[in-house]
Amino acid sequence: MPSKVILAYSGGLDTSVAIPWLKENYGLEVITLTADLGGQDGRSDVKERAIESGASKSIVVDGKADFVKGFVFPALKAGAIYQGQYSLATALGRPLIARYLLDAAHKEGAEAVAHGCTGKGNDQVRFDLSIAGMDPELKIIAPAREWNMSREQELEYGRGKNITLDFAKKSPYSIDENLWGRSIEAGDLEDPWKEPPEDAFALTKSVALAPDDPTYVEVHFENGIPQSIDGNSIDAVNLIQTLNDLAGSHGIGRVDHLEDRLVGIKSREIYEAPAATVLHVAHKAIEGMTLSKDQIKLKERISQEYAEHVYNGLWYTNLHQDLEAYVENTQRYVTGDVRIKLFKGTCSVVGRSSLFSLYQHDLATYDTGDKFNHLASEGFIHIYGLAGRTQADIQPIQLPKLSGSEQINRET
Ligand code: ARG
Repeated sequence: MPSKVILAYSGGLDTSVAIPWLKENYGLEVITLTADLGGQDGRSDVKERAIESGASKSIVVDGKADFVKGFVFPALKAGAIYQGQYSLATALGRPLIARYLLDAAHKEGAEAVAHGCTGKGNDQVRFDLSIAGMDPELKIIAPAREWNMSREQELEYGRGKNITLDFAKKSPYSIDENLWGRSIEAGDLEDPWKEPPEDAFALTKSVALAPDDPTYVEVHFENGIPQSIDGNSIDAVNLIQTLNDLAGSHGIGRVDHLEDRLVGIKSREIYEAPAATVLHVAHKAIEGMTLSKDQIKLKERISQEYAEHVYNGLWYTNLHQDLEAYVENTQRYVTGDVRIKLFKGTCSVVGRSSLFSLYQHDLATYDTGDKFNHLASEGFIHIYGLAGRTQADIQPIQLPKLSGSEQINRET
């Protein structure tokens, strides 16, 4: 009996052709695994496609709830946005798919797992390191990294193996989509000077066609996790779908990112992430009200670190778990409501409130009821400025020449 491999399968050309290729080149029985993380491009007939391509079995998992609970919400709480632009939809999906591959491999007694990633992207790194981080003994095969075939050659190889599936090239782009966003690259997008054509977008309306009236939405957070919209509690998957639709219809969440891949390549990627955009903005707003200035400052650094290592495929590491624990602890008072205005491609915070608010009206107000001790500021500034005054006295600073100063000199 040949040993088995579990192949991450989308039903597209690469992973379909990988089935006979793995059988031929590695002598393995192929079981496919397809995880639905909420992309709209998912094929309804993946099982049939896998079997027709020669798989002995096809496993399909609804991973939406695991994805949101175990990956999306932790990243939201962490404020994880790579290079300030990419909310990491694809990067967060990979470690979950890797986990499913691993579970299936153990269940089926497979000796290897396989994925369809090429040799120049981030996703191969994420799959390989995720698997290695969980089970360093499990073998990983990446057919598309080995075979060096063009699209035409793949089609021909498939025909030679009696694969008669339809691989109509439906899009000029390479697309990866899940609940947290849609990543679009290649085709015309490879010219970084060219504005992305409208046909690259699917989740967001063009701002020119967005409604002339704003929509207001209120999001309630409990310990950093969004729980309800406009006062109605809603399950996590639904909440994200609802915000994707709503914010997408206002043209919110388009990103044009010239990003740095881990493998050293700069690449141009377009993202659509309507719900992620709204939720990150809202979450930051409730943190702004409930965390201290120093907590915010340190957390910004942690956010960047977290985003970078998630991008780099290091989810299953002890470092990641340490950061996760830190982030979780920061969220214990991040509870409250944020009111967001969605309008013409922008998403702005217009209100926030929390039982744990550190904003105190009697300290902030310029009106009656002011409890702030104005006179105490004099002593505060005296001490705070002591080092600076001492230095200015001994080491005078050089002032730049200003034309205004010359005019003043002329007048006097
Ligand atoms: N650049 C993104 C990342 O590394 C997305 C990769 C997948 N993109 C795609 N269009 N197939 O996470």
